[in-house]
Amino acid sequence: MHGELKIFAGNANPELCRRISESIGVPLGDRMVSTFPDGEIQVRILENVRGGDVFVIQPTVPDPNESLMELLLLIDALKRASAQRVTAVVPCYGYARQDRKDLPRVPISAKLVANLLTAAGTDRLLTIDLHAGQIQGFFDIPVDNLNAFPVFKQYIEGVRLDSPTIVSPDVGAMKLASLFCTKLDLPLATVDKRRVGDYEVEATTVIGDVKGKKVILVDDIVSTAGSLTAAARILREQGAEKIWAFVVHGILVGPAVERIKKSQIERLVITDSVRTEIEDPDFEPTVLSVADLLGKAIMRIHKNESVSSLFW
Ligand code: R5P
Repeated sequence: MHGELKIFAGNANPELCRRISESIGVPLGDRMVSTFPDGEIQVRILENVRGGDVFVIQPTVPDPNESLMELLLLIDALKRASAQRVTAVVPCYGYARQDRKDLPRVPISAKLVANLLTAAGTDRLLTIDLHAGQIQGFFDIPVDNLNAFPVFKQYIEGVRLDSPTIVSPDVGAMKLASLFCTKLDLPLATVDKRRVGDYEVEATTVIGDVKGKKVILVDDIVSTAGSLTAAARILREQGAEKIWAFVVHGILVGPAVERIKKSQIERLVITDSVRTEIEDPDFEPTVLSVADLLGKAIMRIHKNESVSSLFW
């Protein structure tokens, strides 16, 4: 048996932490996180955690450097305060896109982050839709990589989109898109995308039939929205009738909002895995909460129950 269940929040997504706390009926632990005058982060756990089964909730996006450091310091403080087990709940795992050496002399940042989390004392990781499932192998501790599909499924069934085609905006998102197809029994198409810069992508070909179809674009991340909007453009050119987009992690930085507003995407559906601060009143993505999903997973991990039934 594990010790008393406790949950602590970092500062990266307070609203999600509050929802998780409400969902499982466990109050957020008392802690202090502030900044020293020179910019260093200062952390203090303000309650007894000795022998506890502690979950620290902190997406490491946006502000990946600040959020990650804060998470590492919280974990270090909890371990030094004799928490029995510390689970890092990282709804969106930052640095995940740098997961291999695709150029000479570049880091494998996703692996470095895994090393840092482990070195800080993390005993388990709970996350949602890692950019690449293989990142689980960067850890030698248990990793539960949940899938946001059940949250989207409920929504899709509610809006009754008539026989849509699922489209992956690039080859990387195929696995996620094909999960939607299998579970919803829908056809699949994909876009051939080439990245030509940090902000720019080109979509050149659609593989599959989208003419006259309602289309659901599926991706794990929307950041600058270059990928989504380039895909939407070519899908419309190829005759797609209606285009919706479902994306797990709505990071939405830089030109994202303007791009989506000007695009052929009629509706953007994201989750609250990361904090979004959209100030444009004319842009209202639908935000679905992953709080219940994470709350259930936390309770099951605490009680040593299976988490796999939450996957879909
Ligand atoms: C790429 O492999 C990912 O699945 C996303 O398509 C990509 O990270 C989105 O980035 P952006 O919105 O900046 O095009």
